Amino acid sequence: MTPKDFKKLGYELIDLIADYRETVKDLPVLSQAKPGDIRKLLPASPPEQPENLTGIVSEIKQLEPGFTHFQHPRFFGYFPANSELSSVLGDLLSSGLGQLGLNWQSSPALTELEEVTTDWLRQLLGLPDSFKGVIQDTASTSSLVALQCAREWATNHSQTRGGLQAEEQPLTVYVSSQSHSSIEKAALLAGFGRDTIRLLETDENHALRIDVLEQAIKDDIAKGFKPCALVAATGTTATTAFDNVTEMARLAKQYNLWLHVDAAMAGSAMILPEYRHLWQGVEGAHSVILNPHKWLGAVFDCTLFYTPYSEHLIRVMSTNPSYLQTSADGQVTNYRDWGIPLGRRFRALKLWFLLKSEGAEGLRKRLRRDLENAKWLEAQIKETANWKLVAPVQLQTVCMRYDVPGMSEEDVDKWTLEWVSRINNSGFAYLTPAKLKGRWMVHVSIGSLLTEREDVAALWQLMQTEAESK
Ligand SMILES: Cc1ncc(COP(=O)(O)O)c(C=O)c1O
Repeated sequence: MTPKDFKKLGYELIDLIADYRETVKDLPVLSQAKPGDIRKLLPASPPEQPENLTGIVSEIKQLEPGFTHFQHPRFFGYFPANSELSSVLGDLLSSGLGQLGLNWQSSPALTELEEVTTDWLRQLLGLPDSFKGVIQDTASTSSLVALQCAREWATNHSQTRGGLQAEEQPLTVYVSSQSHSSIEKAALLAGFGRDTIRLLETDENHALRIDVLEQAIKDDIAKGFKPCALVAATGTTATTAFDNVTEMARLAKQYNLWLHVDAAMAGSAMILPEYRHLWQGVEGAHSVILNPHKWLGAVFDCTLFYTPYSEHLIRVMSTNPSYLQTSADGQVTNYRDWGIPLGRRFRALKLWFLLKSEGAEGLRKRLRRDLENAKWLEAQIKETANWKLVAPVQLQTVCMRYDVPGMSEEDVDKWTLEWVSRINNSGFAYLTPAKLKGRWMVHVSIGSLLTEREDVAALWQLMQTEAESK
């Protein structure tokens, strides 16, 4: 494709995206496609000859029934997966410039813009300046990196000897049973094994019980294990519960453990000083991660990984093949040594565009709007008979259940799944049913870019109509 053709088609595609965003509110939130529906529309074999791309816009439009609209104002599922249009431009630019980070020299701008934007975010989050940042693809990868760091911390770099296999004492990881599945996966991939991952009990607010944690560490030491890592969830995926980071940092210090803080979704809220008490003690962490690609508005994929122990991280992750060495080494950051992939995208552009276009105050304002909307919904539930909150509303996630009078817990479980699926299938709004301590509940996550009070009110109206129809 020539730059001239690129311009022509590019303008059309920008129009397509802009029109999509303007009309998304009128589309059914959940894709109504059946398995195979979209595939049927697509040729089974690749084009042998170049095709004329002028028809590509209508081809893409054909796929629309196969989209679930995360950017819809009544998308209340999982977490806000916001994709701010300014950040879309940063993403496009990243691809268009085709920069590739292999070492500093391969794109000084890519490296130095990443240093600057991660530091801007650090300031906005109120993290100490000893915390150095890097952009990774996802929280899952970042937690894997963190647990690899933990493993090497506890073994004084076993990787330079026989690795984990040569260690005498098995290493253990401690995490709440409410933590995200990516933590267990990361621990397994980092070589821990199921028998050494402690999934610990939570309290009535679904946060890790510190007394249980402390006892588990002591029991493991007595049995000959070597405690290695603590993972704090701030907040959890199901209910946005916050583990007590201060207490976990105290234990990490006492037993010389690596403390990893997973703030994938809720970390965005820490740009609001009035919410920072929720991760109080975070300066005692060894690694902290958050996903600006969730509530903050950066286009997926964009995870921030901070550590005050960047030298340790670099030692664990570094490779130094001769073809990547340059005379600038020693004076510059080589981000390939801060994570798993060698080649790196120019992801900082997504954050840079977002921050410049919204300003910190614009971001704070939007998050505060969502928090107010969540408080409003919480108040409605509290005031309405037979509705109950199953977890405290700490941020923008509201978790509830409708108890049909006289119905058994098991039947309420079935009914919950039924009325939620009616709402989801209607296309009007989308919610996530989830199991909490063995019972089905409904998780309403408020915070899509377009979600206003009237959308939350319309959802509440529909929830009452459906749930109370039994
Ligand atoms: C607390 C928490 N950790 C980790 C993840 C995984 O995020 P990612 O998709 O970036 O790997 C999620 C995603 O929902 C999450 O809520």
